[in-house]
Amino acid sequence: MTDDPVTRAHAMEFSDDVPANASANPTMGDVIAARFGRRDLMKGIMAATAIGATLGPLALASARGTRAAAGSFGFTELEAGVDATHHVAPGYRAEVLIRWGDPVVAGAPEFDPAAQSAEAQSRQFGYNNDFVAYFPIDGSSEHGLLVVNHEYTNEELMFPGVGVQKKKDDFAGMTKALVDIEMAAHGGSVIEIRKENGRWRVVRDSPYARRLTLQTPMEMSGPAAGHPRLVTSYDPTGRRVLGMVNNCAGGKTPWGTWLSAEENFHGYFRGELGEDHPEARNYRRYGVPGNWYAWGKFHDRFHIDREPNEANRFGWIVEIDPFDPASTPKKRTALGRFKHECATPIVNADGRVVVYMGDDQRFDYIYKFVTAGRFDPADPAAARDLLDEGTLYVARFDADGTMEWMPLVFGRGPLTPENGFESQADVVIEARRAADLLGATKMDRPEDVEPNPKTGRVYAMCTKNKKRKKGDENPANPRSENRWGHVVEMIPPDGDHTASTYRWEILLLCGDPTIAEVGARFSSATSKDGWFANPDNCAFDAEGRLWIATDGNNARFTGRADGLWAVETEGELRGTSRHFFRCPAGAEMCGPEFTPDGRTLFLAVQHPGDDGEEWPEFGRTSTFEDPSTRWPDFRDGVPPRPSIVVVTKEDGGPIGS
Ligand code: FEO
Ligand code: CA
Ligand code: CA
Ligand code: CA
Repeated sequence: MTDDPVTRAHAMEFSDDVPANASANPTMGDVIAARFGRRDLMKGIMAATAIGATLGPLALASARGTRAAAGSFGFTELEAGVDATHHVAPGYRAEVLIRWGDPVVAGAPEFDPAAQSAEAQSRQFGYNNDFVAYFPIDGSSEHGLLVVNHEYTNEELMFPGVGVQKKKDDFAGMTKALVDIEMAAHGGSVIEIRKENGRWRVVRDSPYARRLTLQTPMEMSGPAAGHPRLVTSYDPTGRRVLGMVNNCAGGKTPWGTWLSAEENFHGYFRGELGEDHPEARNYRRYGVPGNWYAWGKFHDRFHIDREPNEANRFGWIVEIDPFDPASTPKKRTALGRFKHECATPIVNADGRVVVYMGDDQRFDYIYKFVTAGRFDPADPAAARDLLDEGTLYVARFDADGTMEWMPLVFGRGPLTPENGFESQADVVIEARRAADLLGATKMDRPEDVEPNPKTGRVYAMCTKNKKRKKGDENPANPRSENRWGHVVEMIPPDGDHTASTYRWEILLLCGDPTIAEVGARFSSATSKDGWFANPDNCAFDAEGRLWIATDGNNARFTGRADGLWAVETEGELRGTSRHFFRCPAGAEMCGPEFTPDGRTLFLAVQHPGDDGEEWPEFGRTSTFEDPSTRWPDFRDGVPPRPSIVVVTKEDGGPIGS
């Protein structure tokens, strides 16, 4: 893989080359070096993960092709590999539910790739579907709302005759009309779906249907709302913002709302602030302006010289009521401003709600938010603004196998005027800098962080960090030049998610376990198809079993496409992974999401046909005219289309059993 950004995915990939975290906080490597001596390193990994290194009866059973009896998954494993289309384990159906450009709101036109417009796109399904959540209607697992984030756009695959647009050429091929289509292709969608005769379909002209774009009015709420640092020329109140951007993963609240996480917001801004500008330090820490898109050429609010506070209005968790298409989404500033991957809530035993979050950049942090108020299932409406008051914490992983959640509270510790914090608004706007000062642990790009509702254990997907230098190896973050990623398990005491001290362990070190220098660790029962690299999204099914979706298994490095793997977290097979679904070439796997009955799985196939250079069989830049795949339509003239895939078992049974 080249370090020269070629495609938008590469721009995303290498965005974290910006050395945003210049703090002196110890890396995980420092911590673990203290916890385990060098010679004991591998021993420590084994002890911490409880993964056996010897080939026991389970491995022998696996080698003979028989299934180990103790596993919680019952499906026949899919073969890993890469080609132009998707594949699912035998006995399952995987069908496209909705594609980029399909109509969402009533009256929207059908997709016509040769005649796109912002007006049409703002009513059609957006690009690069990422987070997916299912909200039952009347408790049904066969009728509900599906909400989907549209994270970003690939101009070279979306538009005829445009090709890859680069910053060094000042995005010369981009027009205002194309930029406006891009802005309309971002955001989110709400669709109503129903299962009839065993097949899911989108309900056309649903009253719930909604598109959220960069033009959707949203409200700032919580401690930063109305702060002067959020005031712009078009919003003197500092409380009204147009749209959300780069919405990656997210979460579902127990009161039935959708949390949508603004991730790489910095990439949409251009311009230059002087070093003496009051926001200069703040913007440097977030990599603003990222200059990934031409938006600032045509819209002043994405030009930081002209609208220097607009970038403070992005990078938040957005709460949306999917059942009310007229509702105003709220950016919940109490949860902090960073490159939010996700926001996954769990109701604590005492009724407080705890939201786990990752800041997806190399050497950035894992956070949680604990509400001040309590959730009453009998009165979900009372939870409407629960996320406006509470405490934001950042994680520090210690050498003794414990971890501390450190509060980001104005006036406590270093979060004082001497360090540039005048109020809690400053703390949340510059959450990263506040976390630096508290000594948070620098992680290998934390993506999804999700609690298992059955066991209370919390799993963080650390996708990769090839910039971690030698000397930082250790059990919790054990590899330098970590191209493969790993999974950290966090264990609250007695299931108390409000506790300040947890224990932590490593569940998996990803990559090919047969290549010694990769240093991967899966259970020895994991097959040649079962290992994966670059964990990104995850989900728990109705049985509390862990499913991991990947982003980065390109054909050149791993010989396999991204996809979905089922991972054992308990018992003697803990650490065993099994391949279930694979994406078409170039795509990453997003979602995943199960219906409450566990019989339907929704998957998001993001940027199919991207990364043409990384698939040796194609070996060149993939474009609208010459894409590496035309999944899922496979029709001349129709480019690849990010799509939601719905997976069911042919016999109608629960997925994975
Ligand atoms: Fe949008 Fe961190 O993946
Ligand atoms: Ca992600
Ligand atoms: Ca998830
Ligand atoms: Ca990713």
